[in-house]
Amino acid sequence: MGLKNVIKSMLPESFLIWTRRKRSFHTLRRNYLAQAKRFSRWEAYNGVQEIGGVEARMIFYTHQLEKGFTFDHYGYGRGKVALQHLSRLFGVMKRIDPQWHANDIYREAISALAEYRARHLDAGKDITFLQHMMPSDVWQDIVVAPRGNGFMTITAESKSHNKEIGFAELAEHRHSVRSFREDVPITHEQIEEAVHIALRSPSVCNRQPARIRLYTNPDLVSQILKLQGGFGGYACPPGLLLITADLRAFMSENERNEAYVDGGLFGMSMLYALEYESIAACPLNAMFYRDVEEKTRQLLGIPDYEVFIMYIAVGHFPNKTFTCTSHRFTINKVFKD
Ligand SMILES: Cc1cc2nc3c(=O)[nH]c(=O)nc-3n(C[C@H](O)[C@H](O)[C@H](O)COP(=O)(O)O)c2cc1C
Repeated sequence: MGLKNVIKSMLPESFLIWTRRKRSFHTLRRNYLAQAKRFSRWEAYNGVQEIGGVEARMIFYTHQLEKGFTFDHYGYGRGKVALQHLSRLFGVMKRIDPQWHANDIYREAISALAEYRARHLDAGKDITFLQHMMPSDVWQDIVVAPRGNGFMTITAESKSHNKEIGFAELAEHRHSVRSFREDVPITHEQIEEAVHIALRSPSVCNRQPARIRLYTNPDLVSQILKLQGGFGGYACPPGLLLITADLRAFMSENERNEAYVDGGLFGMSMLYALEYESIAACPLNAMFYRDVEEKTRQLLGIPDYEVFIMYIAVGHFPNKTFTCTSHRFTINKVFKD
């Protein structure tokens, strides 16, 4: 036995654990700092002049307009902040992307704006503010673009054969649904069927850190969603799932982000499983600032060792509802050489 090991064998176990933890904490701090630096170098901050960030922000604000088209009662005049941001982003994109006019993300923003304009005109609303806000060439694109984009219709009937269709079709037809039947509650048993399927999600070394909870008390669900902040304008869903991941499944500093990977995989399995069970669902972010995280932890009694992955609003499909188109990138943007 070497001298080092002799000394080690004389030290109390509690001291050795303390030093191991201390070392791990310092390594984690260095790694998280490097992550923070990379994130802040590349995040799409307000005012970004780099094409990836401009496109991300344009998608974000287009999506806000699209969400407006899915409300049960359309809110005329809503979305002015999104419109202002889009107007500015069009200007930046024109400067930095020589192909801006053919850019798919630009075209999708224009489609949503064409629908926005048409809805307001149909209802006899004054739309001159929009014209004044937009660069004149962009406005021309909006005026000639066809309407009807940005949202699509979903019916309960179209979901009634989900167990009989193939996976590609199921994946193609899954959409985030934000309005649910109000007269039919969601039960623990119905969700359990989907959880059984999601249990087959892969995880690192099969350590299975994902955990899931169902909340159905309307007062509690409303309180949670108020803190969450991304479901404004929609009625309270009959059920809300919370997916977390248990940090006790992880063993070393290089696994520091794995909870989010394994939890995310479980979340995606749940979304497909719910679709398979013909349960309407919408994933909702749990990307909290610290104060909101603490409030949510307290409200729901989530232990310190679990991290938040996402919520999923759940309920039964109404006879007819609307969802955002949420265009996808073309394959060559995603599948790199
Ligand atoms: C992790 C995550 C968080 C999300 N958060 C929200 C949210 O807070 N509010 C919301 O209305 N939609 C939210 N969504 C739904 C997305 O807007 C939606 O998945 C996206 O537009 C693609 O549309 P699709 O799900 O219909 O294919 C979230 C989705 C994911 C995966």
